Amino acid sequence: MHHAHANRKVAIVTGSSRGIGAAVAQRLADDGFAVVVNYAGNAEPAQALARRITEEGGQALAVQADVSDPAAVRAMFDAAEQAFGGIDVLVNNAGVMALATIAETDDATFDRQIAINLKGTFNTLREAGKRLRDGGRIINFSSSVVGMRQPTYGVYAGTKAAVEAMTSIFAKELRGRNITVNAVAPGPTATDLFFNGKPQEVIDRLAKLAPLERLGQPADIAAAVAFLAAADGAWINGQTLRANGGIV
Ligand SMILES: NC(=O)c1ccc[n+]([C@@H]2O[C@H](COP(=O)([O-])OP(=O)(O)OC[C@H]3O[C@@H](n4cnc5c(N)ncnc54)[C@H](OP(=O)(O)O)[C@@H]3O)[C@@H](O)[C@H]2O)c1
Repeated sequence: MHHAHANRKVAIVTGSSRGIGAAVAQRLADDGFAVVVNYAGNAEPAQALARRITEEGGQALAVQADVSDPAAVRAMFDAAEQAFGGIDVLVNNAGVMALATIAETDDATFDRQIAINLKGTFNTLREAGKRLRDGGRIINFSSSVVGMRQPTYGVYAGTKAAVEAMTSIFAKELRGRNITVNAVAPGPTATDLFFNGKPQEVIDRLAKLAPLERLGQPADIAAAVAFLAAADGAWINGQTLRANGGIV
């Protein structure tokens, strides 16, 4: 499964200690990328994933960095360059979600989602704009809630709508570098972020929303990211790809 060549392309996957990010890191490693497994607080699963990739013959490095901190993001790019010689792919997967009506959202909850989902994505994009090798790929994370617009998703969807706007603008700003910039927008996907705080009946209802009548799995989303990161995705640029089983 793993490619034995020395000149692997290098991918940073933010928030890849668990959930969708972990599936993306594993999938890109399986596809032959050297991978930076970034995490914020959960060192153990990130290091375990990096270890497993290495044991399977791949290359991986677990790197702590809070994406909302520009200095930490710079240090993560430094670590990637030092370990693997350069960076070709950035996957901006790290994100948080807190659901409440706009009337009931407190300042700290608003600020945290902006800091991680929006400023965090900006921090890594800015660094990637300076440091990604020509021919590279950037895959941001939006959400299908931008299209669904359900009550209580206002602030979270707002951060993701902003990410979609930056995605297509950044694609244009990188003219001449042969770097594509796209976003993947999952629907309900079986991770902590989706399950946390939801009663079983809500989970069951959301799982049946899609005509495919199941939740997305992290591997479903990783497949969409892998497509955009691979040669087959070369002509897709500035787009948001909704990966949601047909919800919206
Ligand atoms: N699950 C869904 O239904 C769904 C739907 C649409 C979009 N999405 C988007 O998909 C992405 C991944 O979501 P998920 O469901 O896999 O979430 P998750 O299971 O909660 O995992 C979140 C990951 O992000 C990391 N993270 C959180 N804050 C961070 C920070 N400040 N800096 C660096 N890393 C940070 C976490 O690291 P630690 O383990 O260290 O905390 C963890 O690895 C997010 O952008 C989310 O908005 C998810």
